[in-house]
Amino acid sequence: MDTIQQNARARCHWLPTLDAISTPRYQALVDQLAADIANGSLKPGERLPPQRLLADALQVTVGTITRAYREAERRGLVEARVGSGTRVRDRHSDAPDFHHLSHAADGSIDLSLSVPIPHAMRHQQLSAALATLARHEPSMHTALAYQSEQGNRHHRRQLADWLTTQGLPMDVDELLFTEGGQHADYLALQALVRPGEAVASAALTYPGMIAAARQLGLKHIAVPVDDEGIRPDALDRLCQQQRIRLLYIMPEHNNPTGQHMGANRRNAIAEVARRHDVLLLEDGVQFVSAETRGTPFYRLAPDQSLYIFSTSKLLTGGLRFGALRAPAPLIPKLCAALRAQCWAPPDLIAAVACQWLTSPEADSLIRWQWQEVAIRQQRVQEVLGAHQPHAHPCGFHAWLALPDPWRATDFVSRAAERGVTVISADPFCVGSQPAPQAVRLCVTPPADRTTLETGLSRLAELLEEEPLRVSPMV
Ligand SMILES: Cc1ncc(COP(=O)(O)O)c(C=O)c1O
Repeated sequence: MDTIQQNARARCHWLPTLDAISTPRYQALVDQLAADIANGSLKPGERLPPQRLLADALQVTVGTITRAYREAERRGLVEARVGSGTRVRDRHSDAPDFHHLSHAADGSIDLSLSVPIPHAMRHQQLSAALATLARHEPSMHTALAYQSEQGNRHHRRQLADWLTTQGLPMDVDELLFTEGGQHADYLALQALVRPGEAVASAALTYPGMIAAARQLGLKHIAVPVDDEGIRPDALDRLCQQQRIRLLYIMPEHNNPTGQHMGANRRNAIAEVARRHDVLLLEDGVQFVSAETRGTPFYRLAPDQSLYIFSTSKLLTGGLRFGALRAPAPLIPKLCAALRAQCWAPPDLIAAVACQWLTSPEADSLIRWQWQEVAIRQQRVQEVLGAHQPHAHPCGFHAWLALPDPWRATDFVSRAAERGVTVISADPFCVGSQPAPQAVRLCVTPPADRTTLETGLSRLAELLEEEPLRVSPMV
């Protein structure tokens, strides 16, 4: 061992042993890294040795170490950041962060949050709904009383009638109220899937679902997708290999990737689900207009499909009001879980949400928002069209695959330096699925189009530049 190697070994706090016979060296290095993370010798957030130092210590080329670190990043084991080297990924810190409510710095143009477009109409309409209820003695009376777990029937009827106008006819007895879409998601998983059982979704999916499955100790498996989302043949194969209790789907436009399932695809998925007795949990929170919506799964496979509704993207997320449609035989189980959690979601909120949602003013607000979103999505295409962002015309977000050699983590931090907040694919990845070099841009948080356009132009300019890469010499 020469002095350079000796010095390097003395300075490396992590020293893998390489088995050069069985696998390529970079691969052996990644395997050892994964094992050391799993057995706790490498801690979340811990920095890996600089590449040159580790190369000297192991007497391999810097190229081997670079390749290993890249592969480890692709496998979701580590994160590389300009200026701070490569660190073990802190999966735990990913979890509570999933909604990114605190990410946008003051003064930054936030394109990270999936929220309704800010508008004074929302305040006015909420005030009007509250005032109407306050004057209505029977509503005040029921709001003061304990309600059944499923929610007050009169309000369920109001919501069911409204959903029918949106092309989503539902039976009131198959509907129960929740405290928003996230709660409906958690409730369905908690009541219908036992710890250790497997649920499946696209590899890139809504982070709240990932968090709920993890919290409940469920096995979460990624199903391969194509341009229309989950592939029925892949789902079929997976179900032949192991028991899948529930499939989570967003057929209108997958959050974050935006794929839309056509009619044939929906029928094929429903057929596989029926054959293997898989529950289908359709998340309709990213609500689209009746004109653009395909057939919901609960109409294709009513006995095994659940549908999640929420007012969060239509009226406001602060109301925390949602609903779950489930086949009648599953309602008692869901009600039992609700009772154990909170007895029942507050009827006052259900009353306000239903009063507001069914008003003609809400109708104008929702229509205005869809039109405005469509215009904003056009702007995304105009400014970033060369990079082919993927989006649904009613969708709050667009998915932007970054051109080579951009890495998403670098792009997110460089965009932040220019005062624009976007999020990378990481929080949307199921398990250790590799994160593609892509970002999600939400078009709805800016109050006006000019701010959105400024943010988009800054991103377009950034894409024209060379990324600053982590140097192999660090
Ligand atoms: C697909 C999806 N499901 C559920 C939710 C959570 O909805 P809520 O705010 O109603 O809990 C969101 C919020 O962004 C979402 O995008």
